[in-house]
Amino acid sequence: MTANHSTNMRTIRTVSEMQATADELRKDRRIAFVPTMGYLHEGHLALVRKARELADVVVVSIFVNPIQFGPTEDLARYPRDFDRDAALLEKERTDIIFYPNDGEMYEKGFTTYVEVRKLEDHLCGKTRLGHFTGVATVVAKLFNIVKPHCAVFGQKDYQQLMVIERMVKDLNMDVEIVPYPTVREPDGLAMSSRNTYLSDIERKKARLISASLRKAEEMVGSGERNTDTIRRAVDDVLHQEDGIDVEYINICDTGTLEDVPVIAGRAVLAVACRIGKTRLIDNTILTEA
Ligand code: PAF
Repeated sequence: MTANHSTNMRTIRTVSEMQATADELRKDRRIAFVPTMGYLHEGHLALVRKARELADVVVVSIFVNPIQFGPTEDLARYPRDFDRDAALLEKERTDIIFYPNDGEMYEKGFTTYVEVRKLEDHLCGKTRLGHFTGVATVVAKLFNIVKPHCAVFGQKDYQQLMVIERMVKDLNMDVEIVPYPTVREPDGLAMSSRNTYLSDIERKKARLISASLRKAEEMVGSGERNTDTIRRAVDDVLHQEDGIDVEYINICDTGTLEDVPVIAGRAVLAVACRIGKTRLIDNTILTEA
């Protein structure tokens, strides 16, 4: 274990040390966990603050999980800065950073995967083949290593949250999943480590993503229930400027993620698009007034 200067925050780099530490802590303390891929922003820090409220000990993992990236995705250029992340986590009174390397997480001969069927077939799962299996597998492993009582996940990655909740239920994992609302920039853009890829011009265009969600909320607020009509209006907002390449606009059941023709009760509107080389996602829950 490495002691970080001036506070009690510790960085643990091995699975065996993290498991032994978790066993010791669990004798009389509650552990809250925030899994991340690092390059932390205010959205992650809000999850850490929530974790702080929920337990005695806060563990944050930083691991850019190779198996959730497709062959043409941004694994190599995914932003990384451990020292910056550690300084931010220290300010939030994080107790432990779990910071393994690839070999520690995936030993030679690794061949076991967690597949959350059906939920993977929708939204991002259609184009990011294998992504949610990669996410579910690493989160299952992290739960076995960190042994948390609860874990906080952002609602910005709505499909990820549903996949994790389903996995925990189906595999009887003894972890409470705590969802946390999306944290936004002042102009509405959902915070994401990938926002750092955007040029100034692309960044300005990106505000249209959250604007399109607000448009849908207004329409539902004024009585519109037809999801095709709402999806067309969302698409119109996204095309107010050139350069936003829409991957999907779906309105789905909040649990199964299957498309719904009308809003009855609650539905989730999920959007994915590319601006230049950057793929961004966002969502909102549409609720009948
Ligand atoms: O949301 C993320 O940052 C990642 O998908 C997660 C949950 C840390 C798994 O690698």
